[in-house]
Amino acid sequence: MFKDRDIQRKLKNLTKLPTLAEVGRLLESFLQVDIEGSPEIERELVFIASSDPALSFNILRMVNSAYYGLPRKISNIEEAINIIGFSDLSEYILKPMTKTFLTHLPYYDWRSFWFHSLASAITARYIGKEIDFPHIGEIFTASLMHDIGKIVEALMYPSFFKEAIEKSNDNWVPFFEIERSLTGIDHAFLGGFLARMWRFPYEYIKAIESHHDNHIPEEFHGKKARILSVVTMVANDIVKYYGITTPGASYYVLNGELFEFLNLSREFIDKFSFEIRRETMLSLERLSISLHR
Ligand SMILES: [Fe+2]
Ligand SMILES: [Fe+2]
Repeated sequence: MFKDRDIQRKLKNLTKLPTLAEVGRLLESFLQVDIEGSPEIERELVFIASSDPALSFNILRMVNSAYYGLPRKISNIEEAINIIGFSDLSEYILKPMTKTFLTHLPYYDWRSFWFHSLASAITARYIGKEIDFPHIGEIFTASLMHDIGKIVEALMYPSFFKEAIEKSNDNWVPFFEIERSLTGIDHAFLGGFLARMWRFPYEYIKAIESHHDNHIPEEFHGKKARILSVVTMVANDIVKYYGITTPGASYYVLNGELFEFLNLSREFIDKFSFEIRRETMLSLERLSISLHR
């Protein structure tokens, strides 16, 4: 069984999450040009930064680090980029991210992870608009990062990750349940753990670590964190219902209690399925990720 102290020690070696090679090449093309002063290029880079789960995660780490010493946590990616500035962003985040990439494994194609994460984020944004939630950027980012613990697991505990995926496939038991039975923790816990170590805003830590809980968080977590968590759970399930899943077995719940909490009609699920798919495909294309290769 995994112990917090050992996880902490292990994750200390992790300072950046890698992205896909295709996104890395795209980032490289930005390093060749003078980003500052070209609103078009700036806009495209902000789009990429807020649509790539690993890149968003790295940006949040940097902006919330002791180096910046800000009096409050920053959760909005656009605001984070404004604070960091394009030149430091290029030097300390983009450049290193063009050097090492996530390698596709025979049992895990990371493009499906990007597909699932982006579809969840876009679904969450539609939900946010539907329920008039004021923090649309945050609702998107929370869902985009919900499964980030899988990247952490694949990097830091590769043999455990492989075993869990294979056992999940072989026995048709949800991946997170296999993870828990093998180690006592799962990728939700691991992602939340790293987000906490990297001093992320509380609502992100909560949304990541509770995304498989399937119940409404207690009131003491605060309104914003509760809504972000529940939207993250619901978006994840809706996307699975659409069939946009990652390797390993999984199921969706579409829990009526969560819909009620958000004041979200069940009709939402089918009402936007076309738009959500279309937007996700367009976003993948802008990230230069092709699912058919
Ligand atoms: Fe998950
Ligand atoms: Fe997920």
